[in-house]
Amino acid sequence: MFSGKKELLGVDIGTSSIKVVALSESKGVFHLEGLGSVPLPPEAIVDNSIMDAVAITDALTGVLESLKLKHKGAATSVAGHSVIIRKIQLPLMAEEELESQLQFEAEQYIPFDVADVYIDFQILGPDAKDPSQMNVILVAAKRDFIEDYQALFGDAGLQLRVLDIDCFAVENMMEVNYGFLEDEIVALVDVGASSVSVNILKGGESVFTRDIQAGGNYINEELQKRLGLSSDVAELLKLGQESDEVEMETAEAILKESAMSLAQDVQRSLDFFTATAGDDKIQKVYLVGGASKMPQLKAGMEERMGVPVEVADPFRGLAVNEKNFDPEYLEVVGPDFGVAVGLATRRVGDK
Ligand SMILES: Nc1ncnc2c1ncn2[C@@H]1O[C@H](COP(=O)(O)OP(=O)(O)OP(=O)(O)O)[C@@H](O)[C@H]1O
Ligand SMILES: [Mg+2]
Repeated sequence: MFSGKKELLGVDIGTSSIKVVALSESKGVFHLEGLGSVPLPPEAIVDNSIMDAVAITDALTGVLESLKLKHKGAATSVAGHSVIIRKIQLPLMAEEELESQLQFEAEQYIPFDVADVYIDFQILGPDAKDPSQMNVILVAAKRDFIEDYQALFGDAGLQLRVLDIDCFAVENMMEVNYGFLEDEIVALVDVGASSVSVNILKGGESVFTRDIQAGGNYINEELQKRLGLSSDVAELLKLGQESDEVEMETAEAILKESAMSLAQDVQRSLDFFTATAGDDKIQKVYLVGGASKMPQLKAGMEERMGVPVEVADPFRGLAVNEKNFDPEYLEVVGPDFGVAVGLATRRVGDK
């Protein structure tokens, strides 16, 4: 949503932690320059709103200091429901022309005064059925919402240059690491602590996005509620570790059952696409996000959907110096960085 030109730090502010990634690009290859994460207190972000800006700024400042990076600009993203996203059709026109008409075009699609909102767009290309028209994604967010994020980054010594949406950041990460086949229909699903974002692509073009309130926290809540455990013990069990406080068999049964229920929530949101997509069927699901590391979730989704489900590796296509980054560590933390890697591929002013 902002403009200029330089490498940006990818900063994913999730409800459970901040993830930071730095990439450099040479000859079309992205090189991993730095990565780090830092947990956030549970009340720092609630329902996509910044509740404790000081806690977030402190955490961000801490991780930036430990990484010793020189970046001045950052790219971040928010959940899809904090912004308005519309796919619209307009007569073919140049990007500059659309830019000058944007306020006017946007008025028809935005339910509040356009003076109060930032508007951005992405031209997807000519329409397949009517080549005189082009498909455009219009994105709008309230000014004060964006200003909160700008202030937060400013306090951490960074300038916020790109504000993306989580599911598009995951799409950029997949483009760099996997690429998309023509006509292939894939679902990208980011399973975080408190939200799940879904982005369905056909031939590499986003055709359906959705955010649901679900995620890893739900598993902890189930374990805590049903076994009377503290949140720390519940987290350990979820990560596959043992505890003297409970029978492992009992814990495993609850993990399996609650992962299945989470898989069902995800499937239900994918069903909204299937219901309107004619003959189009999802052929493969890629998972990212910390909670995608639960083996029970991948198994549950495969069972319910009957298509292959793969946990994506956000570092797969990057050049990584093994002297600086332990491959085993990258494998373990990989899915956590799905959004942050996508953000770090962004350049100021690119569309
Ligand atoms: N190995 C693991 N097995 C199961 N769950 C895990 C594992 N590692 C992390 N998680 C869970 O993943 C979640 C954190 O994932 P992530 O970092 O993607 O969330 P977030 O971006 O902070 O949250 P959100 O996107 O919902 O705001 C937590 O619920 C955490 O317990
Ligand atoms: Mg997240």
